[in-house]
Amino acid sequence: MTETLSRPAAAAPHRPPGLLPQKLHHAASAIADAARTTDFYSRIMGMEMVHTVMDDRVPSTGQPFPYLHLFFQMADGSTIAFFESPSLPPRAPASHPGYDVFDHFAMEVASRDDVDRWAQWLQANGVEIVGPTDHGIIYSIYFHDPDGHRLELTTNIDATWSQHARQARADLDAWEEAKRAAKAAGNDASAALIELIRMRKGQE
Ligand SMILES: [Fe+2]
Repeated sequence: MTETLSRPAAAAPHRPPGLLPQKLHHAASAIADAARTTDFYSRIMGMEMVHTVMDDRVPSTGQPFPYLHLFFQMADGSTIAFFESPSLPPRAPASHPGYDVFDHFAMEVASRDDVDRWAQWLQANGVEIVGPTDHGIIYSIYFHDPDGHRLELTTNIDATWSQHARQARADLDAWEEAKRAAKAAGNDASAALIELIRMRKGQE
């Protein structure tokens, strides 16, 4: 990735105009129990199961993994999808607890009040939640589905949150430069990045 970012622009082909993904079609993950997942996403989350696929091999690769593929739809038509395959052993535990918080699906709801209503509804169904957390730009609760996928329900509290592309690019450049400089000096990249983070937080 670093090589791609540092490659001179002249060497990179230009993306043809209009080539931009339009919306989330589906995000997908493997699960252990299709009926359990269906109960959670349809009854608790209110997302209709709008399509299934059943096959004895993976169409794209031909791998002989039998599966049931289930799609659950949100209000905008986007879906979260799952695969139950009888040939899969239990998933290996994450190598670091960071993966358990960083890897998640976030779904948007209309208002802060709706986030709070979701918190009540989930708790009434025995689902443990973390939050609500006010991130300044969004307001969120976190919880897990029956397979341990971390889910977030969130609403924008700063309508301009996604209008900071220039700052985002500057952050990425600073991040990459801190790693590069640490590596060049033979220093620990994590320490350099923590220093960068604290300096940035101090500027807020
Ligand atoms: Fe998130």
